[in-house]
Amino acid sequence: MDEEQVLILDFGSQYTRLIAKTVRELEVYCQVIPAQSSVEQLRRQAPRGLILSGGPASVYEKDAPRLDPALYDLKIPILAICYGLQRVAADRGGQVVRGRGGEYGLSTLQLAGPDPLFEGLGDDEPVWMSHGDRVELLPLDYRSLARSSGVPYAAIRSADGLIYGLQFHPEVAQTPKGQTILANWLRTICGLRGRWQPGETLEQRIGALRRQLDGRRALIAFSGGVDSTAAAALTQRAIGSQLLPVFVDSGLLRQGDRRHAEQVAARLGLRLQVVEAQERFFAALRGLSDPEEKRKAVGKAFIRAFEAAAHRLEQRQGPIDILVQGTIYSDVIESAGASGARRIKSHHNVGGLPAEMGLEIVEPLRDLFKDEVRQLALSLGLPAEIVWEQPFPGPGLAVRILGPVTPERVALLRQADAILREEIKRAKLDRVIWQYFAVLLPGRSVAIRGDGRGYGEIVALRAVSSREGMTADWYPLPYKTLARISSRLTNELDQITRVVYDITAKPPATIEWE
Ligand code: XMP
Repeated sequence: MDEEQVLILDFGSQYTRLIAKTVRELEVYCQVIPAQSSVEQLRRQAPRGLILSGGPASVYEKDAPRLDPALYDLKIPILAICYGLQRVAADRGGQVVRGRGGEYGLSTLQLAGPDPLFEGLGDDEPVWMSHGDRVELLPLDYRSLARSSGVPYAAIRSADGLIYGLQFHPEVAQTPKGQTILANWLRTICGLRGRWQPGETLEQRIGALRRQLDGRRALIAFSGGVDSTAAAALTQRAIGSQLLPVFVDSGLLRQGDRRHAEQVAARLGLRLQVVEAQERFFAALRGLSDPEEKRKAVGKAFIRAFEAAAHRLEQRQGPIDILVQGTIYSDVIESAGASGARRIKSHHNVGGLPAEMGLEIVEPLRDLFKDEVRQLALSLGLPAEIVWEQPFPGPGLAVRILGPVTPERVALLRQADAILREEIKRAKLDRVIWQYFAVLLPGRSVAIRGDGRGYGEIVALRAVSSREGMTADWYPLPYKTLARISSRLTNELDQITRVVYDITAKPPATIEWE
């Protein structure tokens, strides 16, 4: 254990591990522990600072998560973020109320004056907010350091300078000076030097995987995207030809995805097994409109497809008892696989695997965010076009078709998506934008057909910037590009008669529509 340790007390925020990631990037060792941990437990770890995370609860709810009250007597610096700040305010005699409509997305931080925590910040800095409740009344010995467009207490400090509270999230990419604030807190307020180095090198990761797999044969769910390709390249380094990659053609893929996966596999020298499972997936989705039901149906269809592939391979090659998946950390946390976090959506590849499946699941990237996976992919020597490819969700086009998913609607969306991708590439924005795609909306809209009236399909365009997918902002596509996409969609695809542009951030929206 490093002597310079910071503990993060987790109230269940989606962003808790992002706090940990940022602290580690600032070369300070940290650990995430449950917010309810006792003070004796904290003392044993001798932290030099405590960070209280955000969380989905409201402090005035009966079962709202609390802290051991003795924590306030520890006399070590505390940085309380979002719910953490509200917890401190309520515990120290202030008042927290439900805000009018909440504050989600970009806001401006207006500093009341200089403070060591805000060294290097301007008077008006963009910050990212995501809260419904707000502090109405400060505890007596606290003062406000900054206001935002929405709240008077966007940053607060106790009189003795030991406790700071931030209503905004310094850990997300949309708070551009967030890392500076965290660095100020670690260096100036906690007095830490920051000499810690991340331990796990590529070779150590490969070694750990080699020991875990112990020469056993393993299937890998391979899609050709950066996550599963990095997982495959890593596992191949651990067990070589014992790795058997399986590509499931769900019928929910984009134009060119299957060919791309075949090419990537060939490049890695992997013999890809392709499972034709289109009918299985469409049958599983028939009649479903609810987003969670659709996600679950796709998840189950994947499992069944892998079972069938495993069975066939076993007859040729002997027993297989492992399935390697390229699940990454945001998949885990948004599916509430991390303790305390609330479920945002069930990811196709997380949790709920039926016991009878009989395959042990190995997820070598489970602790990494997307940007860390890309770093790993680079160190594995994967080519840039794979490393920087935009993410594509496992349930594929099924979560981009609102309402029922039919082969006809998938075919239409596939064409629309291909046009959008072509135009983004033509505008040379394909490496700039984190993710861009088309969505098919439910219902129809009035259209002019010849001289008469008709009804056509509505397509929404989504383009977002992000660092790791946990938060995102809508990307301002140039009008010229939007105009080209819109006219190509309506001219080349008869059924499409209306095109709209999604201008919501995450939060409050998510990147995908379902
Ligand atoms: P959301 O829509 O939750 O997405 O803001 C965050 C990122 O995750 C991708 N995503 C998924 N990836 N399985 C995946 O492998 C899934 O079920 C899934 N759902 C969303 C999404 O495309 C974005 O990059």
